[in-house]
Amino acid sequence: RKLHSFTVMQPLKPEKDNPYCWFSLHAGGQYEYILVEKRGEKSDVGFIQLNRPKALNALCEGLMRELRQALDVFEADGEVGAIVITGSDRAFAAGADIKEMQNKTFQECYRTDFLAHWNRVSQSKKPVIAAVNGFALGGGCELAMMCDIIYAGEKAQFGQPEILLGTIPGAGGTQRLTRAVGKSLAMEMVLTGDRINAQDAKQSGLVSKVYPVDQLVSEAVKCGEKIAANSKLVSAMAKEAVNAAFEMTLAEGNHFEKRLFHATFATGDQKEGMTAFVEKRKASFQDS
Ligand SMILES: *[C@@H]1O[C@H](CO)[C@@H](O)[C@H](O)[C@H]1NC(C)=O
Repeated sequence: RKLHSFTVMQPLKPEKDNPYCWFSLHAGGQYEYILVEKRGEKSDVGFIQLNRPKALNALCEGLMRELRQALDVFEADGEVGAIVITGSDRAFAAGADIKEMQNKTFQECYRTDFLAHWNRVSQSKKPVIAAVNGFALGGGCELAMMCDIIYAGEKAQFGQPEILLGTIPGAGGTQRLTRAVGKSLAMEMVLTGDRINAQDAKQSGLVSKVYPVDQLVSEAVKCGEKIAANSKLVSAMAKEAVNAAFEMTLAEGNHFEKRLFHATFATGDQKEGMTAFVEKRKASFQDS
């Protein structure tokens, strides 16, 4: 099957007949393009599955809007300490929705700040793990890179093939990929459209772990549970500090880290964590 399949995706037919929409947290009712539930033994991992199977999870406007809504719901849910975003075994997301873009004018793109809303994913205060099976191409690769941690299934493929469509990555691909894998590989991928497999992605630092396809999602949820067991408050600070490394000089970043480090001493969770350590028991964090 030609990899260009993502360019000929079906447009926006509502997938209302979808039998898998078993659960919805969204106040407005069922989601159309995603499945949403809470996973983990303590239901502390927000779980979002992109679900436009016929379109290999092409990221249409509607899907991205629902993804933002689901993130808002999980951010407001005090029980949720981490979020997992995944797709299907075949595709995390094979691209943006090309038919939605095909006839857009520059004026329209500029006026609506096209794709700017996608950034919501990278602005989540709670840690977000991308569990990538199959294709993560174009917008799909960019979406994965907006997450904090990427786990890949053995058959995963990452790529930024926009150049083959006469455009360039527009949701952070040229920036986040370069920071993740370095200049030469990022240039090669962005200029040729060539994909890399899970092993190369691991080796280049794009992903942190590779798992067999059928274990990927449960391993990502396990990672989410591990994160959710820590203080949500302090995890948010840790995430903010790591992210600052991409925005600041080393001196500024170290200064920022130090301020946040000092701030943790104002929390009950630091007292609890260190007291539990001294008393040789497991900490019970209250997120305060
Ligand atoms: C875009 O424009 C072309 C040429 O006018 C037309 O054939 C095509 O159907 C349009 N595509 C969409 C998705 O509207």
